[in-house]
Amino acid sequence: MGIRHESTTSDTHARIHIEGLERDLRILHLSDSHLTEADERDPEAVPHAEEIGARFNDRTPEGQTAREVFEQTIAYAREQGIDAAVLTGDMIHFPAWAGIERVESGVKDLGVPALFTSGNHDWHFPYLEWSDATRQIHYPRLERLAGENPACHSIEIGGVRLVTLDNSTYQVSFEQVAFLRSELDKGQPCLLFIHIPIWTEALLPGVLDQWKAPIMMCASDGWTEETRSRWKVPGNDPSTVELYELLTQGESLNLAGIFCGHVHFGHAGLYREGRWQYVAQPGFAGGYRLIELLSS
Ligand SMILES: [Fe+2]
Repeated sequence: MGIRHESTTSDTHARIHIEGLERDLRILHLSDSHLTEADERDPEAVPHAEEIGARFNDRTPEGQTAREVFEQTIAYAREQGIDAAVLTGDMIHFPAWAGIERVESGVKDLGVPALFTSGNHDWHFPYLEWSDATRQIHYPRLERLAGENPACHSIEIGGVRLVTLDNSTYQVSFEQVAFLRSELDKGQPCLLFIHIPIWTEALLPGVLDQWKAPIMMCASDGWTEETRSRWKVPGNDPSTVELYELLTQGESLNLAGIFCGHVHFGHAGLYREGRWQYVAQPGFAGGYRLIELLSS
């Protein structure tokens, strides 16, 4: 399949030429808005909403709140005209109903088919243990954004398959790998949306500089015992390694690109020959990416 990425240093755009595409498509990718809304339905989260919200509001571009920046980005995307939108996690800092509803209403305002996959914050209240058990407990809340199976999902737009996998614990399951394989086997062009970037040599320096730990999926080098314990990444599950190998060496050439967030800076770089991984700048800082898929 003829797929060509236009080389870019842009943090807000990606242009990918795909041979035989039915029509040109524009897709909004948004990640890491870290909205901190909570009300009486989640009383334990309310004090955290104020404290953590103030922290993110200090990091927005022009003194707006993170919620105002989210709403501006939604309005901008509507003006641009898009065919679909994908949100790749940490859209909310914790799964209070008020935050879930805010994101839901933003997605509705876009008026196009949309996908959501979870980040490491969307399912985690700050006062709970950060674990897969906690994620499973909150999955039902995320169904409103992510559909009936928040672990993986896909939609088809103009002959292109948009696929999400929840890798927010730094791991994926064999079921998720099988899901991606079945999507790829359909033979159409695919885009993969995940929260945590996969390890690439190009991304490593920026991540280490910002986080002092290689917080990418399937990173082997650069961890210390202390950072592995702090980030709760004891190693790479065999299923996670299988996904990494499928993406970087396996029969996945109809996958045109990987789109993710998590590390809070923009980046675009190769993950295998001719195929790029794009990291979005965080939504709270005004970040987003418009993905243009071009038929010629
Ligand atoms: Fe994250």
